[in-house]
Amino acid sequence: MKIVTTIKEVREEVKQWRKEGLSVGLVPTMGYLHEGHASLIKRAVQENDRVIVSDFVNPTQFGPNEDLESYPRDLERDAKLCSDEGAALIFNPSAEEMYFPDFSTYVNMTGPSDELCGKSRPIHFRGVCTVVSKLFNIATPDRAYFGQKDAQQLAVIKRMVRDLNFDIEIVGCPIIREEDGLAKSSRNTYLSEDERKAAVILHKALEEGKALVLGGEKSTAAVIEKITSIIESEPLAKVDYVQVVSFPDITVIDTIEGDILAAVAVYIGKTRLIDNFIIEH
Ligand code: PAJ
Repeated sequence: MKIVTTIKEVREEVKQWRKEGLSVGLVPTMGYLHEGHASLIKRAVQENDRVIVSDFVNPTQFGPNEDLESYPRDLERDAKLCSDEGAALIFNPSAEEMYFPDFSTYVNMTGPSDELCGKSRPIHFRGVCTVVSKLFNIATPDRAYFGQKDAQQLAVIKRMVRDLNFDIEIVGCPIIREEDGLAKSSRNTYLSEDERKAAVILHKALEEGKALVLGGEKSTAAVIEKITSIIESEPLAKVDYVQVVSFPDITVIDTIEGDILAAVAVYIGKTRLIDNFIIEH
């Protein structure tokens, strides 16, 4: 496995693979990899001859008061995980390699990016769509892998690929969790011992909400209220949003019918965590 830092090196590598008739999978990440990322890489290795993992904390998707500076980084550990999973290449560019000082072209979406995290983090999906478009143009993969952990992001990327005619198959992968149900996340490392225990409330509340929907509840308000009240029972938790939307177009709905996404964003202390479930009807 190689680690490269320049766009030119990725292009040269992919050009060589293409000459050999090999297929290419891409797993975009911000590094500090865990079993969630590993599951994406595993799947990509199964389905492609060569797998590129991008490892880049993308500044354009962070708001001014967010955790860009403190976001955890450990390239050495990431490299071991990627190599163990069978990736061929890690692309670990600097911000300067990815963004010219006078960079001024962004991919702006309306629709699936408007609700949920789009409301709490106004420039977030513009940054995600922009960097993922750039990574698609740099790596020109056949397939790219995204986790349902970020269900709205998955919907946004699928819409972008459709709308902008990227010739890339987007593969969604299930959420990987800790034993107590907490969704694995690089941000879990911010949690103190007490906060880590409290953080399980997201999953607990969503499980209750899911049981309600599976039991036939049709009112989104009732489901939202149930989930919210359980989260609020945890003193260390502060709700950012609890929402039920149609999936994958992410529109607010009053009645549960068709495929739905129930999504939450919750502050545990200063750490903002997200989790969700999807029910297909
Ligand atoms: P990051 O948070 O590092 O996540 C990279 C990919 O791993 C995303 O597709 C995410 O959904 C997936 N992932 C994270 N935790 C997971 C879990 N517990 N189970 C399954 N999949 C999980 O998402 C980003 O980075 C960035 O926004 C990015 C797409 C790389 C653009 O910068």
